[in-house]
Amino acid sequence: MINRQNSKGLRGEITVPGDKSISHRAVMFGSLSDGLTEVTNFLQGADCLSTIDCFRRMGIEIENRPDKILIHGRGLHGLKAPSSALDVGNSGTTARLISGILAAQPFQTTLTGDASIQKRPMRRIMEPLSMMGADITSLNGNDCAPLCIRGNALNGIHYHSKIASAQVKSAVLLAGLYAGGETQVTEPVISRNHSEIMLRYFGADIRTEGTTVRIQPEPELTGRHIQVPGDISSAAYFIAAGLCVPGSELLIKNVGINPTRDGILKAALAMGGDITVLNEKHDGEPTADLLVRSSRLHGITIEGAIIPTLIDELPVINIMAAAAEGTTIIKDAAELKVKESNRIDVMVKNLTAMGGCITGTDDGMIIEGGKPLHGAVIDSCLDHRIAMSFSVAALLAEGETTIKGRDCVNISYPSFYEDLKALEH
Ligand code: S3P
Repeated sequence: MINRQNSKGLRGEITVPGDKSISHRAVMFGSLSDGLTEVTNFLQGADCLSTIDCFRRMGIEIENRPDKILIHGRGLHGLKAPSSALDVGNSGTTARLISGILAAQPFQTTLTGDASIQKRPMRRIMEPLSMMGADITSLNGNDCAPLCIRGNALNGIHYHSKIASAQVKSAVLLAGLYAGGETQVTEPVISRNHSEIMLRYFGADIRTEGTTVRIQPEPELTGRHIQVPGDISSAAYFIAAGLCVPGSELLIKNVGINPTRDGILKAALAMGGDITVLNEKHDGEPTADLLVRSSRLHGITIEGAIIPTLIDELPVINIMAAAAEGTTIIKDAAELKVKESNRIDVMVKNLTAMGGCITGTDDGMIIEGGKPLHGAVIDSCLDHRIAMSFSVAALLAEGETTIKGRDCVNISYPSFYEDLKALEH
């Protein structure tokens, strides 16, 4: 049960857990490198633990210590056939990226996951990987997991993706590590580029020009040290709460501000949010501390190239929009329908239940802000980002809010409720 923040607002300092996208990639690329990879500030969320489990089951020794994880990489050709199906749990990133690797292995794998994963579209990776020569079948014939992936010799392609998806791009690039020649991916607009940054750091020959990335096959990847920045997608809940709960002032420390991920900052500033970026560091993945003060927000239109840079933050941006004056229009975000839940439908249902004024559209939503919110029973649909977004909404609402399936925050932010509570005064 979460109650409105009636008192002096949210105050204090917070350090959010490590970035989910970067943590997944550290395990995957470390496993494919020669020698030891040490990862600090690794996200101990269920999704990233699924990635560790999958690579352990392919013969990689991974030590999960309290202060770091150690990956004893076996090189590009060092994976072993798992003895049974690989289970990615709830993790779309694991499912899609690992498929690019499995497509080139000298063994056959079955890849499965939870009920949500078994509904998420896999054609988007099956199509380009098949063009490269991969043999992938959807066992239920619905283009979703479980997938049977029979490793094959692959050829390089130039793939023109219709969607801006880092998961699709990364799957093709990872298959490209094993291809017979250069592989290129062109996206309609740039999606998060953590794979490109980290693969280069491990020793891959990978270059970006505009929205095209090219990778050369058979690099010698060498184990490295990865310091994972705080996850801006997790920081987003505190940015929203800090801006919308009156009387708040929060310092969010060590947040990743990669420009392919920082749309939440741009959107919040455009809405009139008082955010100061402090202590910027540009060594590898850029990071900064964010000072957030409560602000009077106004509605904006969010569309086009910014969408992939804030796609996971749109649920909590909906909450900011509900608290803002005027109308917020979100367009070009049809991808919301195929995330851990259909985030257009789920946002409309839950925000309406709290008294918000929101209309779903084909590719986003329209929110009339400024309507008083009241407590309600929220169905998270076991989607971690929905549970966290409505925890923020609950702080703005009159009365009590109950979030069904609240523990799903374990996917990306196991200590979320404790961390939020610690800031209340
Ligand atoms: C991710 C990419 C995004 C994002 C997901 C993580 C990644 O998905 O929504 O949470 O780590 O590559 P798409 O690339 O499918 O848009």
